[in-house]
Amino acid sequence: MIAPHSTATPGSPRAVRKAVVPAAGLGTRFLPATKATPKEMLPVVDKPAIQYVVEEAAAAGLDDILMVTGRHKRAIEDHFDSAFELEQALAAKGDTMRLDAVRDPARLADIHHIRQGDPLGLGHAVLCARHHVGDQPFAVLLGDDLIDPRETLLSRMLEVRERREGSVVALMEVDPEQIHLYGCAAVEPTGEDGVVRVTALVEKPAPGAAPSRYAVIGRYVLDPAVFDVLEHTPPGRGGEIQLTDALQDLAAGGTVHGVVFDGLRYDTGDKADYLRTVVRLACDRPDLGPEFSRWLKEFVAGLAGGASDGEEECTAA
Ligand code: G1P
Repeated sequence: MIAPHSTATPGSPRAVRKAVVPAAGLGTRFLPATKATPKEMLPVVDKPAIQYVVEEAAAAGLDDILMVTGRHKRAIEDHFDSAFELEQALAAKGDTMRLDAVRDPARLADIHHIRQGDPLGLGHAVLCARHHVGDQPFAVLLGDDLIDPRETLLSRMLEVRERREGSVVALMEVDPEQIHLYGCAAVEPTGEDGVVRVTALVEKPAPGAAPSRYAVIGRYVLDPAVFDVLEHTPPGRGGEIQLTDALQDLAAGGTVHGVVFDGLRYDTGDKADYLRTVVRLACDRPDLGPEFSRWLKEFVAGLAGGASDGEEECTAA
């Protein structure tokens, strides 16, 4: 295991051990890059995006990870498997650093794969995990949201679930103009700092119809009760079976809490956000950061100096 530190208590009977990572999307926003490569495998600096997600789960003590994939996702399976010939070649050269980098993904956790079959939505992808998860609480991590490895959001959510039972979602305050891109939660205080009770949830509310600025970001700790609800959840927004709609049912029963997150989250869901993510994480890397940041400063200074009318939108925000 290369998980940096585990804050969970795997010995306790209710400890969450399993994580589900939905990865069946077509990645149409990144075509043609995703024509033959799953979007989850797009590199963020030098690791595929999905590896960050699996590392986050492992760091929170989750040692059983189920990827819910679809067709054309073989590369994900291969990435989290051993690569005999490559390992032999690196070992023969004595290149232990790269050998470790190649072996690390398969050592992170016990990784399983199932296929979603029909892409009927996030709720359906989670329902596909029912048999594997069984009657235990479990985490769901969405690959478009990367949480900075220095944050402990997932561990905090697991700890809230231990104390309060039910399900726990991660919430982040976003600009009102952005909320239509997310599931949105109506909340009330619990008296505990950073923990709210979720009273209602709406998937991607129309502008002006959002109950709050609290967006559900892609981290969930779910009670297995969600499966029974999902079995009967009709298609919602976009004609898809929405996880948010099933959680709305549970929230109405008072069993959903939110952990409010104001830390570092990177969105790799669209092209501009993906590029920002790569730049930010590259700047943070001890091996690349100093040199890359120096170049970036010069590049941005050049942009600021040389911007003509047609270039005004290219800023370094
Ligand atoms: C999904 C969920 C949405 C959530 C979002 C977080 O939407 O349906 O509720 O807020 O992830 O990233 P997607 O972005 O996959 O359309």
